[in-house]
Amino acid sequence: MIRAMQTVSEAPEVRGVPGLGCVPWMISDGPAFLLRTARERGPTFRARMGPGSMLVVSHPADLRTILHDHAKNFVRGNTVDLIRPLLGNGLPLSDGDFWLKQRRTMQPAFNRGHIQSLTRLMGEVCQRRLADAPVGATIDVHQFFTLLARDMIVETMFSDSLGGDTRAIDTAFMTISEFTGSRAFLPVRIPLHWPLPSNKRFHEAVRVIDETIDRIVARRKGGESRDDLLDALLHARDPETGEPMQQRHLRDELVTIFFAGHETTANLLTWTCVELSRHPEWARRMRDEVLAKASDRALVAEDVHQLPVTNAILREALRLHPPAWIFARQGIEDDALSGVRVRAREVALICPYITHRLEEFWPDPDVFDPQRFLDANPYAMGGGRDAHYVPFGSGPHVCIGNHFAITEAVVALAALAKHGRFSLLAPERVTNKVGATLSASNTAARVKPWK
Ligand code: HEM
Repeated sequence: MIRAMQTVSEAPEVRGVPGLGCVPWMISDGPAFLLRTARERGPTFRARMGPGSMLVVSHPADLRTILHDHAKNFVRGNTVDLIRPLLGNGLPLSDGDFWLKQRRTMQPAFNRGHIQSLTRLMGEVCQRRLADAPVGATIDVHQFFTLLARDMIVETMFSDSLGGDTRAIDTAFMTISEFTGSRAFLPVRIPLHWPLPSNKRFHEAVRVIDETIDRIVARRKGGESRDDLLDALLHARDPETGEPMQQRHLRDELVTIFFAGHETTANLLTWTCVELSRHPEWARRMRDEVLAKASDRALVAEDVHQLPVTNAILREALRLHPPAWIFARQGIEDDALSGVRVRAREVALICPYITHRLEEFWPDPDVFDPQRFLDANPYAMGGGRDAHYVPFGSGPHVCIGNHFAITEAVVALAALAKHGRFSLLAPERVTNKVGATLSASNTAARVKPWK
């Protein structure tokens, strides 16, 4: 379906090192390499990866084509095979009618109204975690927020059903994240059935997660109901057919929410604290705002949308450090992007990390400046057709958990504003760490009192 009347050509190609192509640069710091290349060669280019190549796409006009106008042609396809043993046919891995049916069934559980009802519980989870990070302590910020986001999902999704010992499931998720990060940009696919130690660790991690989810669902089905996401999904019905979700699909969606919903938010909060540590003037503005709104009480749902500075800080952190920094689509038929040919079955890698730093749309793109959102819309979620701000994706597959993530992050920052600030020991040494998502390394910090 190449667009009529348009001259199509090949995208510029970066050849990299003989034999390996750009693999070494992708492994050492993929986001930095792709951004550098986009600035030199333009926002759409090919990068050689061993014997093959990948097409990187980042201009909003092309995102609009892929994610909106030609969304039926650009599907998940086999780009998500690596993670299928874990997520099955969960929402982020499915397309077409099956995806639509699941999305329709799950949507009510993620609507803003339902998520807002979880605000108080989220606040309690923060208080409990912060008790382990008293003023004066030295912590690892990324680890802290990973546990916090894990607790948030566990409590809001399963109430207390996971029990006290979460070590096995934590380790399993960490194993899977490292596994996907290390395999995603290898030039050749290593089959998952090969008896390699890394494959064995991956399958074992999937088994642990499967068993845990099965146990929780079985217990809940035989017991009392709770006002949590698990109950919402157990009782969810397709609005057209009235059918409940099949057991296997429920399992896939629960694992998906757990997986998609905690590492991403942990990274958002980590990068936000890195930026606040580098820009103490914004940390102070955030604290003043929170204290003016709710110094002597817990945050309630209505507050979340009445804290413009806090929200703008989060939007700016999502712009500069989008946790979902890259994601893929595969063309079913030949197509074209800004005059560049995309062949059938070719994979297009959509890179919000570059889109969010295009000077055409973001003046001084590398500068952390929440004022740009304060001036425009501090509550922006992106996802519209303009497609220059896409931290939660765009089009029909836009993140179902976006309100959950933002509510949780605002609640966490508000709790921090009353507790103490995470002062990075070496903010200038923080670097990108690429796993399944974009996280940060060197995030040791001292918990300091606010002055
Ligand atoms: C800061 C936090 C988060 C970020 C940056 C983020 C980002 C994204 C992005 C970019 C997509 C679109 C991927 C694509 O088009 O292929 C997506 C989809 C999705 N996200 Fe999130 N996400 C976050 C938090 C969450 C949370 C908290 C949940 C669940 C509780 C969640 C569940 C999902 C699901 C199920 C999808 C698939 C939607 C579909 O295909 O219909 N995410 N997310």
